[in-house]
Order: sequence, then C-alpha cells, then structure tokens
Amino acid sequence: MTTNKRIVLSSDHAAIDLRQKIAAHITARGWEAVDIGPTTPESTPYPQHGAAAAQAVASGECRFGIILCGTGQGIMMAANKVKGIRCGVCMDTFSARMIRQHNDANMLSMGVRVLGEGLALDIVDAFLDADFEGGRHATRVDMINAMED
Ligand code: RB5
Repeated sequence: MTTNKRIVLSSDHAAIDLRQKIAAHITARGWEAVDIGPTTPESTPYPQHGAAAAQAVASGECRFGIILCGTGQGIMMAANKVKGIRCGVCMDTFSARMIRQHNDANMLSMGVRVLGEGLALDIVDAFLDADFEGGRHATRVDMINAMED
C-alpha cells in the first residue's frame, strides 16, 4: 500500500464544478487533494492542464491524478504524452477498476459532458479501491513503458 496519499486534480473550464466535488469526495476518503485548478470559468485549453497534472504524478509528488474535460479524451491525450503516465478515460466502474488492476494506470480521466456526478464519484472509488495485480500484467505494462525510451 502506498504511503503517498496525494492525488492531483485538474481540468479545463468545462469541468471545474465536478472537479471540486471530486476533490471533496477524495478528501473525505482520506486522500489529500492537490487541486491545481483552474478555478475561473474562462475558456482554457485542456492540454496544459493535463500536462501539469501529469508532471505532478510523473515527478512522484502525487500518487495519482484525476483529470477532466468535456469528454475526458483531449486531456487524457495530453497527460499520456508525459513519460511515466498511464492514463485512461473511464465512463464506467468496470474500466476504472481494470485500468488499475491490469494496466497499473496512475491517472484517471473523465468527461463531464458524458457522466453525471454520481457515476463519476463511483468511478473514482472503483479506481482508488483497486490495486495492480502484477504478474503477466507487469510484463505488458513494462512493454508500454519501454516504448517511451
Ligand atoms: C472544450 O470545449 C472541449 O473541447 C474539451 O473540454 C474536451 O472535451 C476536449 O477533449
């Protein structure tokens, strides 16, 4: 079990409200929410926010990252450009659990224009409650990581 209980959160302008609700939810669960914004509703490009959250995870400052945009797709693409990041878009709890158990994902992305708040919080719980299974899955994750070099 990790001792790093920090989770970085970021989004673009589309998902500020849901991001703040997720921050409160994970705080209530005993995690430390490192919410790096944005906090004002002006349009702001998702790549910079995905990359900033990814850097916080890749550096080891935060154990996990949770990021959001309208679909969850664009900000996920940006996060996955950062070395060491394995981020998946999840719209269901099964996928959220599996990206931890099989892919050792360290970031979760969601789309605020796709999901309701209740499902989004359940997806967060599924992600945080699952652990990487290692074994044959570790070999495959190692293959992904080797592609970065
Ligand atoms: C912003 O309008 C929207 O393009 C963004 O939130 C996201 O859905 C991109 O992938």
